[in-house]
Amino acid sequence: MRESLTIEDLRRRAQRRVPRMFYDYVEAGSWSESTRDANIADLADIVFRQRVAVDISTRDLTANMLGQEFSLPIGLAPVGLTGMQYPDGEIHSAQAAKAAGIPYVLSSMSVCSIEDVASTVRSPFWFQLYVMRDRGFTEGLISRAEAAGCKVLVLTLDLPIMGQRHADIRNGLGSKGISVRNLLNVATKPQWLAGILRTKRRSLGNLVGHVDGVDDAASLREWVGKQFDPSLDWDDVAAFRARWPGKLVLKGILDEDDARQAADIGADAIIVSNHGGRQLDGAPSSISVLPSIVAAVGNRVEVYVDGGIRSGQDVLKALSLGARAVFVGRAYTYGLGAGGRAGVDRAIEILKNELDQSMALTGNLSARRIDSKTIFARGHRA
Ligand SMILES: Cc1cc2nc3c(=O)[nH]c(=O)nc-3n(C[C@H](O)[C@H](O)[C@H](O)COP(=O)(O)O)c2cc1C
Repeated sequence: MRESLTIEDLRRRAQRRVPRMFYDYVEAGSWSESTRDANIADLADIVFRQRVAVDISTRDLTANMLGQEFSLPIGLAPVGLTGMQYPDGEIHSAQAAKAAGIPYVLSSMSVCSIEDVASTVRSPFWFQLYVMRDRGFTEGLISRAEAAGCKVLVLTLDLPIMGQRHADIRNGLGSKGISVRNLLNVATKPQWLAGILRTKRRSLGNLVGHVDGVDDAASLREWVGKQFDPSLDWDDVAAFRARWPGKLVLKGILDEDDARQAADIGADAIIVSNHGGRQLDGAPSSISVLPSIVAAVGNRVEVYVDGGIRSGQDVLKALSLGARAVFVGRAYTYGLGAGGRAGVDRAIEILKNELDQSMALTGNLSARRIDSKTIFARGHRA
């Protein structure tokens, strides 16, 4: 993995290695993909203030999230189906996060189950919850996360219905089944195929065996498609707050009023997010709304952000605008697709090195004390 110097290098490797339908699944945004692209473009528009003659010989990249110390202000965001990027992908990702000393958030839609990850990785992870119409199943997921030792529940609010991603429909990842063209493409990825055939984890591990009548790929796809609960409202969120004894993080907040609601119901943290541009196309980039949300609730809840983070420079920009930490989705998923555990290790290392150097050259000694003086207000171009 040494020859991969950037997240973009990892992306290219993943594209070569992973079957097209699963690579496209990661890459896709909803509809015109304008929000997905804005996440990246708006970060690129932010310009650093270079500072000199500051003693930067010792630098501290550590962060505190929800009372816990981490080695970096970076976490691995929940990403569904990572076990299709690389066999046992969730386990490799959780192991990489553990080794790096950063949080890993396991998706409800993971291939490796909660129990698989808990028993293999033996380190606490955070669990991301999608609320399903079948509230008994939803409660079951929460209880299983509790039993597995999860102390942090990340409740995703921006997917009450699925945003349409054209690539997934064309590739047959939706309800109609995988196209012949894509099956042929899988045959051109022998390394991936050999790995997937070696593991027994090839389905949605948190669902199979826990939902009556769902036992093959087709019934699973149909069940999931119908199950996201469009009736989820703030009363439900308050009920989850009352139900969950640990820390509660609300993910998918993009509006100041919603951020205030989150604080009012007693959330411990929020993730400012548009789901990587996969839900409401035409919504603003998460980085563009971050400052106003921090101003509205930053003294009441911890504010994290995700969306478009592809470098340590992007991490520093988000911290400069008031985020306590960032989460990365595609950046580490590319690493996973490129080379499994080693690829995720490399993705984290790239982000860490870039953050460290960028902090140094902007005269910042501590990731905990970065503020808006690190960047120009506006009107400068890099
Ligand atoms: C392939 C893929 C699958 C995702 N699956 C989930 C999921 O299961 N649950 C969730 O809360 N967010 C999910 N997300 C959103 C991420 O948690 C995160 O918000 C997003 O990836 C951040 O943008 P970035 O990919 O540009 O870093 C997914 C994102 C991607 C790219």
